[in-house]
Amino acid sequence: MTDILFGARFRLLGTEELSWAWESQVFSSLGQVAEALRATGYIADSIATTTVYLATELHKPLLLEGPAGSGKTQLAYAVAEAANTRVERLQCYEGINEEKAIGKFDELLQRLCVELRSKSANVDWESLRAELHSKEFFGAGPLLRALQCERPCVLLIDELDKVDHAFEAMLLELLSVWQLSIPKLGTVKAESIPFVVLTSNEERRIGDPLRRRSFYLRVEHPTAEREAEIVRLRTPDSSYEFHASMAGLAKALRGWSLEKPPSISEILDLAQALKVLGEERVTPEMRDLLLPLLAKTEADRRKLCLRDGFASLVHDAQQYAREALEGVA
Ligand SMILES: Nc1ncnc2c1ncn2[C@@H]1O[C@H](COP(=O)(O)OP(=O)(O)OP(=O)(O)O)[C@@H](O)[C@H]1O
Ligand SMILES: [Mg+2]
Repeated sequence: MTDILFGARFRLLGTEELSWAWESQVFSSLGQVAEALRATGYIADSIATTTVYLATELHKPLLLEGPAGSGKTQLAYAVAEAANTRVERLQCYEGINEEKAIGKFDELLQRLCVELRSKSANVDWESLRAELHSKEFFGAGPLLRALQCERPCVLLIDELDKVDHAFEAMLLELLSVWQLSIPKLGTVKAESIPFVVLTSNEERRIGDPLRRRSFYLRVEHPTAEREAEIVRLRTPDSSYEFHASMAGLAKALRGWSLEKPPSISEILDLAQALKVLGEERVTPEMRDLLLPLLAKTEADRRKLCLRDGFASLVHDAQQYAREALEGVA
């Protein structure tokens, strides 16, 4: 995989130059982004692959917004796998603080150190104080760990819409100058610049300062052709008709103005459930059996239970599946 990404240039360089090459080019060409992502099992469209390529080339954070289960978080993991690096993940939630994100001094370790040192006769308190506030006594959180990586990692800041404005503002220093100012520890500069992926489900609007610094990628539900391809990767033993029928059903369901339209991940669950049941296609008679997988709110369940509702849905799905099949023919 590494060879795909860095090409001959990577192999010819010595160790010192190696990290420079890595920093300057995560993927060696645009074509290789799609290929490398696909090899990890992630099927991206051309806009997504181009944006990822540009973001890695220009050291820009990538802000991903879109419905639940559309592949935002997975894209970060796919890029990391494709680039043969690891993910540092900051899972955001309401009330998250800087300690969780950046880290904090290990007070227990500090106390232990003071106790041990105070046993010796001549303690240099000034240097002990400095030592206690060094990196050795600091338990790094994901943001700091990402900056301290020898080789650039992927820094995933997931569900950023859950945090407040103050926390969002704190990220600006990191994303603008690739450093963190930590009280008592000082300013920590990046050893390598991570590829930053920010995701949001749009519960709160992300502020303009962060938007200005990022490339923005809208992650929507895929086309039927792309969804069939994604299903194919998860159920490779099934026929293409089956993959297309799953994608057709997804498209039909999303056209039904449901409260909670199905995401890619739910369609993958459905495909796998059908395999477990030994079924190759969805028929109108399977309505009650499949409702728990397709309708995730009471209103949606009622809608799919309407007289002839499910039968017409299956009819639409078959039509979309035929179109998807024609698209690849
Ligand atoms: N383009 C894709 N290619 C392959 N698999 C995909 C793709 N998009 C989504 N998936 C599948 O859907 C699953 C859910 O994706 P993911 O967790 O990234 O969604 P999300 O947008 O982060 O959702 P949420 O907003 O709920 O966190 C993935 O684990 C993966 O199996
Ligand atoms: Mg997610």
